[in-house]
Amino acid sequence: MRLSRFIQINTSYGRQQVKLLLAQGRIRVAGDVTTEANLEINRFVRVELDNQLLQESQSHYLMLYKPAGVVSSTEHPEHPTVIDLLPERLRQGLHLAGRLDLKTTGLMLLTNDGNWSRRVTQPESRIAKVYRVTTKDPVATEAEEVFRKGIYFRYEDITTRPAALERIDCYNSRLTIHEGRYHQVKRMFGYFDNEVTALHRESIGEIMLDPDLRPGEFRPLTAAEVASF
Ligand code: URA
Repeated sequence: MRLSRFIQINTSYGRQQVKLLLAQGRIRVAGDVTTEANLEINRFVRVELDNQLLQESQSHYLMLYKPAGVVSSTEHPEHPTVIDLLPERLRQGLHLAGRLDLKTTGLMLLTNDGNWSRRVTQPESRIAKVYRVTTKDPVATEAEEVFRKGIYFRYEDITTRPAALERIDCYNSRLTIHEGRYHQVKRMFGYFDNEVTALHRESIGEIMLDPDLRPGEFRPLTAAEVASF
């Protein structure tokens, strides 16, 4: 919404009076006086008229180390959710930027900024997600090649985008994918009839799970992490 319209809606001033308020330098946006009537105001910026606060809302961006057994949704009848791991004061309005299966551990992103989470999750953006994968059987020798070429998923009628497999040892590998299909990693290894016994997300784009976090812990994203999307 434009600043002049925002002020009209949030005060009793009319159009001409709002122009005057702006010209007199009585409006502050994010702490700075502005005279720009057309400035776009989103719901996360502080707006003041003289000493009166017209909008205070703040955006929140968190990374959380999801433990196994916690559901990545905001509500669940049976299991604790990732939201339950946060203090009450932070929960309001938060949603998840992507999901993990119940037993999967690792990096989850949470925010109240819908535009930001759309950038993280939109399929066209091809953001790299890196997973540590442990399998029941040794990883097939041809897996690198097959994952690189893509695997056909009949249900969605798509072929997965080129994925990179890095072997750590026979049973452990690191897989980088660029989309987020339902149970994607498990289904990719399922192509070789190989069960994924442990799955852990290490990173999403440039955001890496903080090594100082333990399962269930969270921290705010840094400005650089937020800006990376
Ligand atoms: N792929 C899966 O199979 N499960 C997850 O939780 C994430 C990616």
